[in-house]
Amino acid sequence: MKKIIIQGSSRSKGNTFDITQALKEKLDCDYIDLSTKNIQLFDYEFKNQEDDFLPLIKELLENYDVFIFASPVYWYTMSATLKIFFDRFTDCVLKEKELGRKFEGKHMAALCCGSSEDEIDSYFIPFRESAKYLKMNYIGDVHTWKDSDEIDEKVIHKLQFFSNLIESQN
Ligand SMILES: Cc1cc2nc3c(=O)[nH]c(=O)nc-3n(C[C@H](O)[C@H](O)[C@H](O)COP(=O)(O)O)c2cc1C
Repeated sequence: MKKIIIQGSSRSKGNTFDITQALKEKLDCDYIDLSTKNIQLFDYEFKNQEDDFLPLIKELLENYDVFIFASPVYWYTMSATLKIFFDRFTDCVLKEKELGRKFEGKHMAALCCGSSEDEIDSYFIPFRESAKYLKMNYIGDVHTWKDSDEIDEKVIHKLQFFSNLIESQN
């Protein structure tokens, strides 16, 4: 199965990036940084159809089976960058319905990076519920953190477990 990490952070090369690269060392997958794309807020009148969302989601749905969303913890939830991307799935549900149906049967996993080991109970609910709504298989998630230059050994172990979990879906 082809896998891709989809990162949404306000820092392209920040902590979440470091964690995604550590995961990439363990898991054969591609990587995309949503900050490199022009993705506008959801618009009920779909006035934003010329931005990068539709070409990107088409490419993802055509070429990948597993979407691994990666975001920092910002105010107990996902980054605005990633949330905007999720909001735009609505384009596929309301307008580009053929695309919307292509989510079905794909796999989703999620990773967050906070500043401490403390997990936020509700963090992954939007991921899990969105997967359910889109008829995707929710593989699971991992809370990570970075509070110094080096990645904590505990996080490295969690990433290995997460990677094995994703690989086991094959
Ligand atoms: C706007 C903002 C909000 C944050 N909110 C939280 C939070 O609610 N809980 C937490 O543990 N850390 C919080 N943090 C810390 C970040 O989650 C942490 O530093 C993370 O590793 C940053 O990843 P990044 O470099 O990819 O942005 C926040 C940081 C920022 C900039």
